[in-house]
Amino acid sequence: MTSTKNNGSEQTQETKFHFEDADVSMSDGGDNNADVTDDVTSADYYFDSYSHFGIHEEMLKDVVRTKSYQDVIYKNKFLIKDKIVLDVGAGTGILSLFCAKAGAAHVYAVECSQMADTAKEIVKANGLSDVITVLKGKIEEIELPVLKVDVIISEWMGYFLLYENMLDTVLYARNKWLVDGGIVLPDKASLYLTAIEDAHYKEDKVDFWEDVYGFDMSCIKRRAITEPLVDTVDGNQIVTDSKLLKTMDISKMASGDASFTAPFTLVAQRNDHIHALVAYFDVAFTMCHKKMGFSTGPKSRATHWKQTVLYLEDVLTICEGETITGSMTIAQNKKNPRDVDIKLNYSLNGQHCKISRTHSYKMR
Ligand SMILES: C[S@@+](CC[C@H](N)C(=O)[O-])C[C@H]1O[C@@H](n2cnc3c(N)ncnc32)[C@H](O)[C@@H]1O
Repeated sequence: MTSTKNNGSEQTQETKFHFEDADVSMSDGGDNNADVTDDVTSADYYFDSYSHFGIHEEMLKDVVRTKSYQDVIYKNKFLIKDKIVLDVGAGTGILSLFCAKAGAAHVYAVECSQMADTAKEIVKANGLSDVITVLKGKIEEIELPVLKVDVIISEWMGYFLLYENMLDTVLYARNKWLVDGGIVLPDKASLYLTAIEDAHYKEDKVDFWEDVYGFDMSCIKRRAITEPLVDTVDGNQIVTDSKLLKTMDISKMASGDASFTAPFTLVAQRNDHIHALVAYFDVAFTMCHKKMGFSTGPKSRATHWKQTVLYLEDVLTICEGETITGSMTIAQNKKNPRDVDIKLNYSLNGQHCKISRTHSYKMR
């Protein structure tokens, strides 16, 4: 693993957050306010991480992400041409710009952060103000000048797919404005699970608390292990196969479908020790002429979503062909719907290791 591992509670300004729910323990990550308009205070920043260009820079430079959307739009103009498009959470307006170039009749770009003002400038600078209307406000609160749209496009995915909970905003927009027979881009999102060897990093991040300069701080270890870590997993750490936990159909699903329990069976591909399970997601645009999409898996080109690592309390000694069976329950946190509660049940009945456990995690 890389040395840049972050857990969900140590996010900086560059991290994707839904602005209104920003954690009060969050750092604003710096004091360079060169891009700030005079009427924006640090308090606004505190609750509005998407107002800063840094996070948009990170997303735009994620070539896997941005180029995938561009390819979907430019190589499948039939989906967009002469259509009314709604861009949910437009940010800099990049997806709206792609759609305008692909011949959309009109694009409504809705963005709730201060970035909406910048998106207006960008649209104007590119001579597309007659095709793209930027609306500043929350999807749940704005009024669209049209009753229905033909296409909803959005990049709503968070870490572990569901962190940030922007999916609900897309489903709200779909239910309210998408015309019968209209399309949602992307329309499929799938969550996968695999298992890794990660002795070195687990020691550094979790076991560290057992003996800190001779003192027992293992009460922090118990907490540390409940917080999934977001980082890049090296392909050669993977010990088992990968299993699909759930595919969500964004064009049909209900909001509650994002909370679920999924069983899994992971089969060891070699003799090794397992320290963590790892989750990652794919998205697909199945309405394209030929299916398109991208993966955030450890065997694919890295994205800013990396992977999500869930450390196990025990080290599992596993032999090739043995299986870890279990289930994962994923639910929105009741107090803060931006957070994700994860419950993991697993057991291994192997030659060297017999174990059955339940762990709870919280992405926050
Ligand atoms: C992941 S970013 C994607 C930005 C842009 N579409 C892109 O692909 O680069 C999501 C954007 O949605 C905005 N957003 C989140 N929730 C929203 C809501 N309820 N209404 C309007 N915009 C929202 C955020 O401020 C953020 O700029």
